[in-house]
This record gives sequence, C-alpha cells and structure tokens, in this order.
Amino acid sequence: MRRATAARANSPIGVFDSGVGGLTVFREIARALPHQSLIYLGDSARVPYGTKSPKIVERYALQAADHLVQRGIGMLVVACNTATSAALPALQERLSIPVIGVIEPGARAATERTKGRVGVIATEGTVNSKAYTRAIKKIKPSVEVIESAAPLFVALAEEGWANTHVAREVAEVYLEPLLDAGIDTLVLGCTHYPILRGTIEHVVGDAVAIVDSAETTAACVRSMTLETDGEPQHLFLVTDAAERFRRIASEFLEQEIGELELVAL
Ligand code: DGL
Repeated sequence: MRRATAARANSPIGVFDSGVGGLTVFREIARALPHQSLIYLGDSARVPYGTKSPKIVERYALQAADHLVQRGIGMLVVACNTATSAALPALQERLSIPVIGVIEPGARAATERTKGRVGVIATEGTVNSKAYTRAIKKIKPSVEVIESAAPLFVALAEEGWANTHVAREVAEVYLEPLLDAGIDTLVLGCTHYPILRGTIEHVVGDAVAIVDSAETTAACVRSMTLETDGEPQHLFLVTDAAERFRRIASEFLEQEIGELELVAL
C-alpha cells in the first residue's frame, strides 16, 4: 500500500464531509494552522452519509477526494467518521498524498481520558462498522466501549437547531441509556455532533468527559504540516444548496464565509 506521510508544502489542505459537520474539523485546523490555505467540500446534495451503505459512502468519498486532488490539495482530511469508517483504506490506497481520518485521533483521546467505560455516539454507518470499538481496544484492550447511533443530531445540526428544546429532548433520549450504563467518557463520533456540544454537555453533566475528535484530528494534521506564512485562502465547495450552506456555515464559524462554489462530483 502506498502511504504518504508528509503534506506537500504550500498546497492547500482538503477537508471533506457530507455537509456542514466537517466544519468542526475545519475550524480546529484553521485555528491550529492560521496561515494554511484550506479547501472545504461539503457533499450537501447527498447528506446524510450515515444511513447509507458502506459501498455507496466509499464511492462518494472517492469522488470527493478526486475532485479535491484536481484542485491541487497536498493533504486530505476525511472530516467525516462515516466516510472514515467506510473508505479510509481505499482513499489511502488511491491517493499519493497523506490522508487523515477522524476515528484514530478520537479513539486515542478517549483512551487517554477514560477510567474504563467509553460511550460513542455516531451515525448508524459508523456504529455498524464498529470502527471505534476496534480503534479504542487496539490502543487499550481493557476499555469497555458502548456505541450508539444518534442520527437525528445530523438533521438538527444541518437545520441550525443545535440549541433548541427539540435538540435537548432528542439528546436526553439518546444519552440517558449511555449514562445509565455508567460511561465516564463520551466520544462525539460524528463531526456534526460538536455543533450540538453545548446541548450534549448540558445533558451528560460534568462527570462525563467529552472527546471531540475535531481537536485531536487538527493536532494530528498540524504535526504533519510545514507551517507557512502569508494570507491563507479558505475556499468552500458544495454539491447543492449553496446559500443554505452559507447561512449555517457562517453562523457556526461566526464569520461570513468567503468564496463558495457549487460543484458536481
Ligand atoms: N459528519 C459525518 C460523520 O462524521 C456524516 C453525517 C452524515 O452525513 O450522516 O459521520
């Protein structure tokens, strides 16, 4: 298997997800590497990925990656757990640039924080793949991992409803069984979920440590990137509903997003 380990200097980093969720990763990378140019691709025409089969998600991920490679990226960040669980090996095989997924960094952070019982909330696709259980147990076999799907969080994030009473009630339904099972650490195993972090924290309380793999993934990207200086360019690409993406992305990033293009994959 070909495996590149260092980003091409001066090339933008490509970050992709099914929709707005990967912006949680984009934001952390932009904070960690403030001079680095970034291209974000949200496959908004085909969101959600989480309810689709791994074969289809792999095909979508390869198409997104090919598009970003044509735009000259020097590293690809798969800012989607579902696509990481379904397509990371295929992407690493196909591309001659480094490809980073979000599961390994999140699993590592969970093992560092837990006292023994980790809850993972993710999409159906990620939960069915058991990728988090495998990644956590590979690092620390004694940790107990309880995975649970929370698909409505994706819709709530895409809808801009992260801080509503609806989100709060949904969070209670999803999280109470995990709290009853005695988890001490909760992995937000979908990049949409940190958008609801405030609501999730409110429900789980202070006794449960939250792992947001966006932060740990950004640290991993930083360790593989040569810092540049100068003005970074941030380009956003979507496959549908550009103005809707602009509204939600601007709200989440707390700044007007600049260049936004509609693309076909
Ligand atoms: N944000 C993605 C993830 O991390 C995908 C959510 C979805 O499209 O269902 O899994």
